[in-house]
Amino acid sequence: KAEKYMDLRSPICYILGHVDTGKTKLLDCIRCTNVQRGEAGGITQQIGATFFPIENIRERTKELKAGAALHVPGFLVIDTPGHQSFSNLRTRGSSLCDIAILVVDIMRGIQAQTIEYLNILERHKADFIIVLNKVDRLFGWKRCPNAPIKKALKQQAEGVKMEFDARLTDIVMQFKMQGINTILYYRNKEIDCTYKNIVPTCAISGEGIPDLLLLLVQWAQKKMKERLIFSNNIECTVLEVKVTEGHGTTIDVVLANGFLREGDQIVTCGMQGPIVTHIRALLTPHPMKELRIKCPYQHHKEIKASQGIKISAPPGDDQEKSVNKAMAEMAVLMNRIDKNNDGV
Ligand code: GTP
Ligand code: MG
Ligand code: NA
Repeated sequence: KAEKYMDLRSPICYILGHVDTGKTKLLDCIRCTNVQRGEAGGITQQIGATFFPIENIRERTKELKAGAALHVPGFLVIDTPGHQSFSNLRTRGSSLCDIAILVVDIMRGIQAQTIEYLNILERHKADFIIVLNKVDRLFGWKRCPNAPIKKALKQQAEGVKMEFDARLTDIVMQFKMQGINTILYYRNKEIDCTYKNIVPTCAISGEGIPDLLLLLVQWAQKKMKERLIFSNNIECTVLEVKVTEGHGTTIDVVLANGFLREGDQIVTCGMQGPIVTHIRALLTPHPMKELRIKCPYQHHKEIKASQGIKISAPPGDDQEKSVNKAMAEMAVLMNRIDKNNDGV
């Protein structure tokens, strides 16, 4: 039986939402890091990829008693910027999205970029979970660190519960006006997906985080037999081309299927046509750390999907120069494509 599940890849999960709804903070809360505080003006300017190993998710969902039957290796979660001027970055690579988390601020409801994302999700026919973040902003909220949301709500005074219900009802109506049926996830008795699940959370003290992870796990369990079976055909998309300290110009990619190996031949586009070269180093951040954070990288001989990977070019010869040039050109090209086609 176990063997049947050996070749599953990790689902790729995009976290989307209007600026400042708490996307990065939610990931920080799951990772136990603080990326958000280090960002210029608190605004996410790049796409980051983090691998969440399944053991960690099992641990965090323990209280909800769900981890037993899960066979995916983990989740690859991709953070995106909500700021309007980054709309090109948001759609880049989103075709590899298996499931999305759409974050809404419970105090603000649906906002401009929420609607933009709903359109992108619709276009990609992507499944998604809605997170109603910042429940601690409800007047008089009593913190229950890392508690499942039902338990946390039970601890609240009547007035808090009433404000919660009123805001939830209002937001469900707002989604309905966008043509989307939504429901508080633990009231959802339907097995089919006519209703999108809503999970209330607080990214500061972690209420509702176990529930969010549980829903991701349940989604994965449902999709394991079709969508998540590993295939040897390489599916890989470029997120960013940039200079990384100690590694020269590098390409950040998401590998969604297949293997990449050190020494593999790769082809990048240049202004004067394709440029053929080799992978010098395959680098990943340590699990639970993020690809865009400066930290010692792990080197790999071989990497299996799904993973966020930093690729660097061969050292010190003409080839490196040509690769660096190719990558620089690629960055220019990507910007152009983004400008012309909204990055799709
Ligand atoms: P962009 O990447 O710029 O689109 O923003 P974001 O969605 O990643 O939001 P971010 O994580 O940067 O959080 C925005 C602000 O909201 C920060 O000041 C956070 O500390 C705060 N914040 C995020 N989540 C919560 C929450 O659950 N409760 C409260 N009270 N504040 C939160
Ligand atoms: Mg952010
Ligand atoms: Na922000």
